[in-house]
Amino acid sequence: MAAGRIVLGIESSCDETGAGIVSEGRLLAHVVASSMDEHARFGGVVPEIAARAHLHSFTPVVRRALDQADLKLSDIDAVAVTTGPGLAGALQVGLAGAKTLARALDVPLYGVHHLAGHVAADTLEHGPLPDPCVVLIVSGGHTSLLLVRDLARDQIVHLGDTLDDAAGECFDKVARVFGLPYPGGPAIDRAARDGDPRAVAFPRPLTGPKDAPYAFSFSGLKTAAARWAEAHAGRALPVADGAASLQEAVADVLTRKALAACRDHGVTTLVVVGGVAANSRVRSLAEERCAAAGVRLRVPPMTLCTDNGAMIAAVGDLLVRAGAAPAPLDVSIDPSAPLEYAALQPGTAPAKAA
Ligand code: KG4
Ligand code: ZN
Repeated sequence: MAAGRIVLGIESSCDETGAGIVSEGRLLAHVVASSMDEHARFGGVVPEIAARAHLHSFTPVVRRALDQADLKLSDIDAVAVTTGPGLAGALQVGLAGAKTLARALDVPLYGVHHLAGHVAADTLEHGPLPDPCVVLIVSGGHTSLLLVRDLARDQIVHLGDTLDDAAGECFDKVARVFGLPYPGGPAIDRAARDGDPRAVAFPRPLTGPKDAPYAFSFSGLKTAAARWAEAHAGRALPVADGAASLQEAVADVLTRKALAACRDHGVTTLVVVGGVAANSRVRSLAEERCAAAGVRLRVPPMTLCTDNGAMIAAVGDLLVRAGAAPAPLDVSIDPSAPLEYAALQPGTAPAKAA
């Protein structure tokens, strides 16, 4: 079998330990262990608990990925690992493990930007990304509209970012106020099924004619939802209506701006990625509006939307095929790395265009 190079991807930036294996754009293995349950009683991710859980899960998760792909460790030709952004202690565990594997196997190591991983996740299901495409990235920590060309080679252009909270953060925080379990996004999604999305007129932040067209703000929406909940003090909170209305407001703003970006830039493909891309209303409204605008919508399957190692392997595979320089073995983590290039280590990004 004249196989292409086989890339192992490792993800450990938050509460998911992921290992994935990709070769020439093909997904060979995808294994995730989550420490979510251990954080639930604290209502959010506890960094020390996450780091310890990564330590426990790293080897079993890599082993399961190899088993799934029916490969041996010695079959791995390159290792890609999330080096940022994320929780420092959590990233350290993944990077230390990835370095150890790369050194032991004597194969190149690639440091990958976590958000580029979310973007690349979609290629595992729908093939190479068209150049250019607009990417809406919506996760627990980030909300951005990007113009993406060649993910492995070109600088990623930020059309707009959130000025305050991320969309996922808004869901997580409001869920807490509504008395829903952690993580809040999926809980809001479930609760919203029985609610009326028109029940509460939540604001649509930054959608006025004078507002920045692609910038987001979710902290005012979070406050509006908290006020609405407070106004019910002593009475039963109609959680389903609140959840459905909040979800509608978030989905409306996200998809409205994403389609404006496509229209303004003459782009015919929209890719929606990140944990919040798993939201049922974000998906259905994006479908509706893309169909109306003649824009092709690509959303990765649910299991590739949330954090995983396959998406990091997908970036590694693109970097390998683009001939990118690997990371030095002393590459370090960058917990607050801005998204500029898919590869995070210095030396692989071409000089910024003038
Ligand atoms: O991308 P991700 O797994 O991790 C980060 O990199 O942040 O995204 C996690 C975020 C959380 O805020 C979670 O509540 C949200 O994605 N999320 C959802 C859904 N599933 C996950 N938000 C809304 N609806 C969902 N179904
Ligand atoms: Zn993520």
